[in-house]
Amino acid sequence: MIRSLLSAAVLAVFASAVAAQPTFATPQDAIKYRQATLKEMQQNFKRVADMAGGRADFDAKVAEASATRAAELIKMPWVGFGPGTEGGKASPAIWKEQDKFKAAASKAEGEVAKLAVAAKTGNLDAIKAAIGPAGASCKACHDSFRE
Ligand code: HEC
Repeated sequence: MIRSLLSAAVLAVFASAVAAQPTFATPQDAIKYRQATLKEMQQNFKRVADMAGGRADFDAKVAEASATRAAELIKMPWVGFGPGTEGGKASPAIWKEQDKFKAAASKAEGEVAKLAVAAKTGNLDAIKAAIGPAGASCKACHDSFRE
């Protein structure tokens, strides 16, 4: 009884996890999806980076909202780099060095998550400290995997 309840719960979790993953009819759809999520992520990230760099006035609420959104968005593009979706500005190296690409993606997710935590404090110095490593994690992946 408990066993079957448990497996029903596991199945339900599995089903919702699968449903949350976008599926793509064509490689072009996957490319458009990953570019759109990266672009929207960058718009949020840049808003915070501009405040950290003194190019925009610091607004703690906007910084928090933007960093939080960037941290959500940076988890999204990677599913759009599935098998057979070579193209866009993506380097073919992505499909040859999957482990390295995935590691670069999780590194960036971690750094942008830290940025979101820093932004929640409302402290500009904390944001300044977190923005550098976050930006470096974007650059590290772009250097190896973007053309
Ligand atoms: C794990 C690798 C990886 C990480 C980490 C990464 N990017 Fe990228 N990024 C790419 C690749 C690959 C492309 C090209 C995608 C394509 O054209 O299909 C890209 C494209 C982009 C684009 C162009 C999107 C468009 O309009 O076509 C922007 C903007 C961008 N990245 C910003 C960022 C920022 C900001 C970060 C860090 C917060 C970041 N990326 C982290 C791999 C990465």
